[in-house]
Amino acid sequence: MAMVRIPDENRTLHEAADVAAHLASIGIEYQRWGPARIVGSDAAPEEILAAYSTKIEELKQRGGYVTADVIDVNPQTPNLETMLAKFNREHWHDEDEVRFIISGRGLFHIHPRTGHLTAIEVEGGDLIRVPRGTWHWFDLCGDRRIRAIRLFQDPSGWTPRYTGSEVDRNYQPVCFGASYLPRRSAVTQL
Ligand SMILES: [Fe+2]
Repeated sequence: MAMVRIPDENRTLHEAADVAAHLASIGIEYQRWGPARIVGSDAAPEEILAAYSTKIEELKQRGGYVTADVIDVNPQTPNLETMLAKFNREHWHDEDEVRFIISGRGLFHIHPRTGHLTAIEVEGGDLIRVPRGTWHWFDLCGDRRIRAIRLFQDPSGWTPRYTGSEVDRNYQPVCFGASYLPRRSAVTQL
């Protein structure tokens, strides 16, 4: 279950209904998914996609997504710092950012045009859809580990476009459950 924090109000939401309601109010779709059949979080990508195929197809139909894949990020991922540095500054995309978390954790910050800036810590079982054009940024938690299904309307559209606002510098990427990835070290020098 995702946890939500609204830093400017020093408020944290833990209850499922509160989380869903707040995220909906800032345009973020959030669901909890379970697999159609039991599948290990370390199963092969094709097994993962098969286990969630019904949910994936529903989402494809609804959102016009044409492809789905499984991304694995861990401390052994080549060029991890370079990759993280692309996404931990405020940006938007020309298509939706849709992630279903299989295992690991991550921290989205959403900066709505109206409403309060919101941090969302996602974990296994969480589906999040960040609509195209939404200002946001993303960090891993301290263990630097996440496995997720990604859905794309057009993979070529999923490149970050930076706002350059530097508002992200005002918010520490603190994960709630564990240590967090130290910010503004080598990552931001890239
Ligand atoms: Fe993004």
